[in-house]
Order: sequence, then C-alpha cells, then structure tokens
Amino acid sequence: MDDHLRIRDLNVGFRTYEGFRQALEVEELTIQHGESYGLVGESGAGKSVLALAVLRLLRTPPAVVSAGELSLDGEDLLGKSARRMRALRGRDISMIFQDPMSSLNPVFTVGKQLTNVIRRIGGENHRAAIVRAQEMIRLVGLPDAETMMAKYAHQLSGGQRQRVIIALALACGAQFLIADEPTRNLDVTVQAGVLKTIAALRRDLGVSVLFIANNLGLVSAMCDRVGILMDGRIVETGTVEEVVFSASHPYTRSLLRAIPTKAAGHEGSESQWAQSLSRFTTENGAHCSYFARCTEGGEVCAGQAKPQLSLLDGTHYVACRVAAATR
Ligand SMILES: Nc1ncnc2c1ncn2[C@@H]1O[C@H](COP(=O)(O)OP(=O)(O)OP(=O)(O)O)[C@@H](O)[C@H]1O
Ligand SMILES: [Mg+2]
Repeated sequence: MDDHLRIRDLNVGFRTYEGFRQALEVEELTIQHGESYGLVGESGAGKSVLALAVLRLLRTPPAVVSAGELSLDGEDLLGKSARRMRALRGRDISMIFQDPMSSLNPVFTVGKQLTNVIRRIGGENHRAAIVRAQEMIRLVGLPDAETMMAKYAHQLSGGQRQRVIIALALACGAQFLIADEPTRNLDVTVQAGVLKTIAALRRDLGVSVLFIANNLGLVSAMCDRVGILMDGRIVETGTVEEVVFSASHPYTRSLLRAIPTKAAGHEGSESQWAQSLSRFTTENGAHCSYFARCTEGGEVCAGQAKPQLSLLDGTHYVACRVAAATR
C-alpha cells in the first residue's frame, strides 16, 4: 500500500472577535490507499476543521491555514488554484458532511441531483448519467432504483437520505472519502445498516476512508487505524488493536470508558461522557491540554510544553509524558 493522503504540520486557527484561536495542530497523518482511518474526539476537538482543511473548504479569513505538506496521491493540494480544487472534489476526493439535510437539495429529486453531479463532474451524457445514478442507488443498498430516483429529500427516511448522500459522494469515482460523523442523527439500527454500506463500498470499490466520529467503539469496528484528536492535536494513534487494547493516553482511556456497553446501559455511559465534557477546559495554555482533567498526570507534566507524539511500539504513538515514561 502507498500513501493516499499525507498531512504534515497542518495548523489551522481562526481570527475571532476575542482574538486568534488555534484550532488544529496536526504533526503528521498519513492514510494509505484502501485504508480506513478513524478520527475520534469530543465536540470541538477539531475533527470537522481537519476535514474541511483537507478539502480546502475553510474560508480564509477567518481561518488561517498553513501546512508543511498536504497531498493527495502525491499531488500537492496547497498550491492548487480554487478551480483545480473544485475539479478534484467529487472526482478524486469526496466528503459526507456532518449535517445530512444541508447536503441534499430539497427542490430536486434524488435522480436529478445524482445525474447533475455525474454530468457535471463525471462529464457523462444524460443517458449514461441515468444508468450510473441507478447503479449507485443499488450500490448503496436502496431498493427500487427507479422509484427512488423520483423522490425528494423530504420523502426519504433518515437512513435513506444518508445512503443517497453516500451515493452522491461516490458517484463520480472518488477514491478517497471523508465521512464526517455519517450516522450522527440516525437510530442505532439504521446506523448499523449505513455503516455496513460504507464498509461494503470500501471493500468493493477499494475506497480509502477518513472516518470521523466521537465514539471510539464505532471507529474500532469500521477502521484499520485510529487517531485520537484532543484540542486540535492527535494525542494517540496506531492500529485499532494498539490504540484500543493498549490505550496509553489517559484521555483515550476515558473515551474507552465512555463507550456504551450492555452492562453499563446507554444512560450510564452518556452521563460519564457528559462528566468528561464538563471538565473540559478550552484554555489554550502551553501545557498538555488534558492536564486540568487528567487523573494520572504528575510533576513530570506540570509547567511543561505540550507533549509531542513519540513512538511506543510498532505503529503506536502517544503524546503523553507519563505514558512515554512508563512504556
Ligand atoms: N469559522 C470558525 N470561526 C471560529 N472558530 C471556529 C470556526 N469553525 C470552527 N471553529 C472552532 O474550531 C474548533 C473545532 O471545531 P470543529 O467543528 O472542527 O469541531 P468537531 O470536532 O468537528 O466537533 P463536533 O463533534 O461537535 O462536530 C471549535 O472550537 C470551533 O469553535
Ligand atoms: Mg464536526
């Protein structure tokens, strides 16, 4: 496998009325062809900002973006003109946005939206676009492609809507998919179906995926590798096995405790989650962002600069002084 997406020293900040606020500082993130990488972190961690920065969809200003490297399939994305970036989106890299309703146009049928995209980005003629649209509808597991093509967004269930969005994202052959919390507003049972569809498409089409979620359990089931994003920084990364079974950052361990289990019941884990959020400090101090709520941090952390990622073992990296010292 070779590198599909490469990010090095990506920094994003925002100019706000209260001053400049750093939102993202990613030292390194590489996703290989055909790989599925899960990015996990609580609300405000910077997951969507990272996705939008990759697609160069952040408005500058207020965003201020800089990177040592940002490339797709070896092609530099930073230096591309707005026109070249528009041509790339949908054809080479696609995104399922966090808010599903904003991705569908309420006044056009599913068929019209799909064929429009296929004609505009894929350059197909009308007849070929209809055939391709129907093929995509079947691929995402929706029944009766012809009837589905005639429907409007409001006539679809949440799960059907999300499948149409996946079809739109992949209709023009994009080989890299960013899925930003694709099942956030869906019932658990519907969620499972949509996730299965993404997994099947990944297998059948060989698509590389950057899968964003706030649930480590979900990401472990869907991905090969995982990155834990906290306050704009990746604080632990490695294979699912390394990160989940040998979780080394105290924050990763708190995320693992927040995964709903049958024994704990959903409510129990929700309150645990809320508790961990309430202790969150957004202060952008020099020290480790987890310092204020870490139960394991000690003298080794106090007054020190933010820890950098360091190799623990294999492909397992952690940005924590205590974990690095006790490895
Ligand atoms: N346009 C903007 N102007 C100022 N700050 C912004 C802007 N967009 C995002 N931010 C800030 O960047 C940080 C990261 O936001 P982001 O939307 O990436 O979080 P997230 O991890 O996707 O959260 P969620 O799980 O809620 O979607 C937040 O503190 C947010 O307030
Ligand atoms: Mg988000």
